[in-house]
Amino acid sequence: MVQFSDPEHKKDYVRDKFSSISGRYDLINSLLSFRLDRYWRWRTVRMLRDFPSGRVLDLCAGTMPLSRALIKAAPKRGVLAVDFCYEMLKAGMTGLSGRIVPVCGDGEKIPAANASFWGVTVAFGVRNLGRTMDGLREMHRVIKPGGRLLILEFSRPTVPVIKQGYNFYLNHVLPKLAGLVSGDRDAYEYLASSIAAFYEPAELMGMMKDAGFATVKRVPLTFGVVSVYLGFKAEG
Ligand SMILES: C[S@@+](CC[C@H](N)C(=O)[O-])C[C@H]1O[C@@H](n2cnc3c(N)ncnc32)[C@H](O)[C@@H]1O
Repeated sequence: MVQFSDPEHKKDYVRDKFSSISGRYDLINSLLSFRLDRYWRWRTVRMLRDFPSGRVLDLCAGTMPLSRALIKAAPKRGVLAVDFCYEMLKAGMTGLSGRIVPVCGDGEKIPAANASFWGVTVAFGVRNLGRTMDGLREMHRVIKPGGRLLILEFSRPTVPVIKQGYNFYLNHVLPKLAGLVSGDRDAYEYLASSIAAFYEPAELMGMMKDAGFATVKRVPLTFGVVSVYLGFKAEG
């Protein structure tokens, strides 16, 4: 189990780890999720279909796969893609549309004015924040009244056989496989331990409410291996 002495230590560790696997992140992601990651992002993007124009913030954007899915789904949409790991953004730059603007910045201090976006998305990023509550408050701050937050994140399946199979895969198969492909087994041991240590769905939803979201909802996907958490900001 990877443990951190304080939030800054976690942030430094996370930035270093993503930096070291940035060139192979997309390939490893697709391999380890049996390409389900594309389906999960597609489902997330569909939940923003009533906001087809204007700018969306894709936070913890990494190599920007979700940013790309967001603009593909809506020809009048623009995306601000924010990540604090320069190498991840750089690895995703090839063939990038002009409708996506990558910015190096911290999700706990979002480089944007209050009420800037109808939608904020975070795919597999919230788990990696040093201070989850600060990040959630910042997400709420930059969303326009009536706008929406979509968090795509690993959750843990609860159906017995699936739960056991998933835990075995996560703790024993995934770190070995990913270590072979990425050359950094440690990074994927962190992945397994960060999923195990992450908040229960009800806890995360409570935190979203504490951050100011008027209504929150959870949509589990693929037996609850991941979930999309929706946060609705109250109308002005
Ligand atoms: C698992 S990757 C997800 C990338 C992408 N969203 C996707 O769907 O594949 C998590 C990303 O979160 C970024 N990240 C973690 N903490 C962050 C923070 N405090 N501010 C900005 N980005 C952060 C990491 O650098 C990494 O690129």
